[in-house]
Amino acid sequence: MVRIAPSILAADFARLGEEIDSVRQGGADWLHFDVMDGLFVPNLSIGLPVLESVRRVTDLFLDVHLMIREPGRYVARFCEAGADLVCVHAEADTEEGIRAALREIRARGKKAGLALKPATPWDGALPFIEDVDLILVMTVEPGFGGQSFMADMLPKLRELRAMMDRVNPGCILETDGGIDVTTAPLVAAAGCDMVVAGSAVFGKKDRAQAIRAIRESAREQ
Ligand code: DX5
Ligand code: ZN
Repeated sequence: MVRIAPSILAADFARLGEEIDSVRQGGADWLHFDVMDGLFVPNLSIGLPVLESVRRVTDLFLDVHLMIREPGRYVARFCEAGADLVCVHAEADTEEGIRAALREIRARGKKAGLALKPATPWDGALPFIEDVDLILVMTVEPGFGGQSFMADMLPKLRELRAMMDRVNPGCILETDGGIDVTTAPLVAAAGCDMVVAGSAVFGKKDRAQAIRAIRESAREQ
């Protein structure tokens, strides 16, 4: 069954504690935390002080998605600030730089993830596939919530799932961007086991109902 990580990018930041409680009560599996630097993506979001505050108010698993250049500069601090998993983009540094960042995350006892932008083919993950706990496939251009799902990412999910099953079967395949009751079944059928949902959860009044609807839609696969 597909698991759900609501993205707080779509939450009301002035009431963040209550927003987090609402999805925790509503049955969220993880909480997704989007960090943007205005360089790797053309937008800014939240960072270390907010993560520290969130960590203090919830025991939900914190899935931190770093959309920042040369993430190795900051991964240690995100681990210390309370991330349970830190995900870096394959496109954000050299292969060596990414490898070092992943090593650092794991050395700190946290789970390490690798994210792929839409233009990066599935085999962009190949050099790292045995050294990660999660692969995140972006199904929108990273940087903004509320965009439309890119259905042409489905073959990439299937390729990755097949490769992961061969070389790292415990690895989680996560999808981020434009996930709702219509698209969750598509990515679940392609082998995705964790979906990020921003607007489709925080954009609804009843969070429990929103989470349940996404989960149920994917179960029909
Ligand atoms: C986009 C972020 C996503 C975003 C998803 O760069 O990585 O996590 O919050 O938002 P929705 O679900 O609204 O597409
Ligand atoms: Zn994200």
